[in-house]
Amino acid sequence: MNITQPLALLGALSPQQFMRRHWQKKPLLVRQAIPGFEALLDRTALFALASSDDVESRLVVHGPKGWQMRGGPFARRALPPLKQPDWTLLVQGVDLHVQAADDLLQQFRFVPEARLDDLMVSYASDGGGVGPHFDSYDVFLLQAQGRRHWRIGWQKDLTLQEGVPLKVLANFVPEQEFVLDPGDMLYLPPRYAHDGVAIGECMTYSIGFRAPSRAELARELLQRLAEQAGDAAGLALYRDSGQPAVDSPGRIPARLHDFAQRVLQAALADPLALPRALGEYLTEPKPHVWFDAATAPRRMGCLALDRRTRMMFDDHHVFINGESYHASGRDAALMQQLADRRCLAAHEVRRASKGAVALLASWCEAGWLHEDGAAAL
Ligand code: SIN
Ligand code: CO
Repeated sequence: MNITQPLALLGALSPQQFMRRHWQKKPLLVRQAIPGFEALLDRTALFALASSDDVESRLVVHGPKGWQMRGGPFARRALPPLKQPDWTLLVQGVDLHVQAADDLLQQFRFVPEARLDDLMVSYASDGGGVGPHFDSYDVFLLQAQGRRHWRIGWQKDLTLQEGVPLKVLANFVPEQEFVLDPGDMLYLPPRYAHDGVAIGECMTYSIGFRAPSRAELARELLQRLAEQAGDAAGLALYRDSGQPAVDSPGRIPARLHDFAQRVLQAALADPLALPRALGEYLTEPKPHVWFDAATAPRRMGCLALDRRTRMMFDDHHVFINGESYHASGRDAALMQQLADRRCLAAHEVRRASKGAVALLASWCEAGWLHEDGAAAL
């Protein structure tokens, strides 16, 4: 992607300008971000997804009993009638199931893949919405079908209503409002308050991002480092043949303290251990993601990553679906192309070393990579 070229998607800003001026800073309303946009799946297809065990969905109803929320899966008859106002169905991770939804997400790859999360589709009956709230992550809200009235505000008071099963702001003070038509899009930075209410039946797509918390990163990285260090050091136990008798048995021995410190230092001694753990963590497939094993093509031509595959790289590794490979030279450049573009042309594959071709073949067998064209199936 040319990051200096103005895009209709970003209201004639280039990705570079958008990231500098708006990302994590201030909202952007784009009229006709995708001119003539039509919903990528209809209501029936969305309801079918929401009935699957492998898809995360929520139903929010606002009625005489206040706000109510339930988690899916939902059989069709478990959803309220279409004529009933004020309800909304939210379906997460639609890009994992619908190729066109994944294609849409690809338009936002001017943001690092490590930050891209998923496409959530909401269906709302007239008046439906999830109430005034703020999200912890950046979001692009693309109007897919029907119209939605948005009110937004940069408010400081983030107190939530009590006793409500979802996060609804207690004192929402909107500063701006707009009605979005199909193809219009609103970008909101994290913690920007917003409230979208359907005007008639409507569908909205949320292009969502993820950002690891410190606690999550520490937990995930330490666990991976421990596994790597355990593999390297075997199951070496703490030994204390010189331990004298103690008259204060409650005290933790200083020697055990030192042992713990050495264990942690050893886990980080390899300068590549942390980047490796980070890449493996960031490319771990989401829960409920399964790949269909396949046979590798006999002669490899154009290749494309499966839409569920996560692939990234750093200076020393390529990472794919939670696995890391040390890579250097021409093969590393090829794998980096694959991670960036998610596909390789036949002439690029032909230039790969035998080892790289074998690796690509094994990824095809795992269902992570397909001959291009098959990727769309
Ligand atoms: C929705 O699509 O109903 C909710 C999206 C949001 O407000 O984040
Ligand atoms: Co929101």
